Amino acid sequence: MAHLIKICMGSSCFARGNAKNLQLIQSFLDQNNIKAEIELVGMRCCNRCAVGPNITIDDKEYHHVDNEMLLDILEKILLTSERKNV
Ligand code: FES
Repeated sequence: MAHLIKICMGSSCFARGNAKNLQLIQSFLDQNNIKAEIELVGMRCCNRCAVGPNITIDDKEYHHVDNEMLLDILEKILLTSERKNV
């Protein structure tokens, strides 16, 4: 597995952005045909709601994640490293 994405599905993060962020991740993986290389898992609330919505990619935590920021992160991490592996 090339990358692990953990998205907080706790009610605070989910309501404040991770519902949309989850959709964005799923369509990003579909569009770029990289579903097989990415493990996407939901996390329970980790008591860091104040800095949410929270998403962790490969052990790096991202806070206050909105769609625009997430797209930027996904392009940098997932597409750049996928190209390196080719
Ligand atoms: S709901 Fe995500 S940290 Fe609490």
